[in-house]
Amino acid sequence: MAHEHATAELVRDPGFVPPPALEPMIERLAARRSAPLRNLGGPALTEEELDLLFRLALRVPDHGRLVPWRFIVIEGEARAALGARLDQLYARQNPDLPAAKADMWTLYLMRAPLTVVVVSRPDPAAKVPEWNQQLSAGAAGMALTVAASALGLASQWLLKWPGRDREAAALAGVEAGETVAGFIHIGRPTVDSPDRPRPDATSVVSRWQPAEV
Ligand SMILES: Cc1cc2nc3c(=O)[nH]c(=O)nc-3n(C[C@H](O)[C@H](O)[C@H](O)COP(=O)(O)O)c2cc1C
Repeated sequence: MAHEHATAELVRDPGFVPPPALEPMIERLAARRSAPLRNLGGPALTEEELDLLFRLALRVPDHGRLVPWRFIVIEGEARAALGARLDQLYARQNPDLPAAKADMWTLYLMRAPLTVVVVSRPDPAAKVPEWNQQLSAGAAGMALTVAASALGLASQWLLKWPGRDREAAALAGVEAGETVAGFIHIGRPTVDSPDRPRPDATSVVSRWQPAEV
């Protein structure tokens, strides 16, 4: 499996053999990747899984403890109800939309049992720069994907039109002054999704040295 391969590479390259207690976590992190929406299945998450998912997801660095993010859960029947509202808005914005696409956003939300809208809500009046607050929201999205992986779930982080369009985001409950950081779709993996090429560490990691004088 690609997953074993990822770990093997990780262990071999630095010549580092982790203590056995750390191995499961390293394996999870080394194998974490998105799954296409078509590979997310049910059954829906239990209340206990949801509770654990969010307890893990909110362990996020947060300058000034402002909690500059929040999560909106879309699951069960809410998926079709929000999908229908998004379809109506999309049809209004795109009068020439072919009939075959009339329910595309309903189908989009129905694909995964759970979608979490990660909302960035920086406080412009706070002393903490807005950039720091926005980064914390991005970190919340990443923490959510890692938490999903830890629970054996698969996820995909998308923005697409509902995440970018202010009116669409408002239908999902996003308020003035807030921005969507991601629609994170979560479900049970139906198949093992292929990995994508990853950057080589040497292309993104450099070691600082003092400039020569
Ligand atoms: C903030 C953010 C927004 C994204 N929005 C989209 C999107 O709208 N459409 C898309 O095809 N992929 C989007 N992606 C990329 C997908 O999540 C993609 O599956 C992912 O980057 C694959 O990487 P991974 O396997 O490391 O998770 C987005 C990623 C991020 C971080």
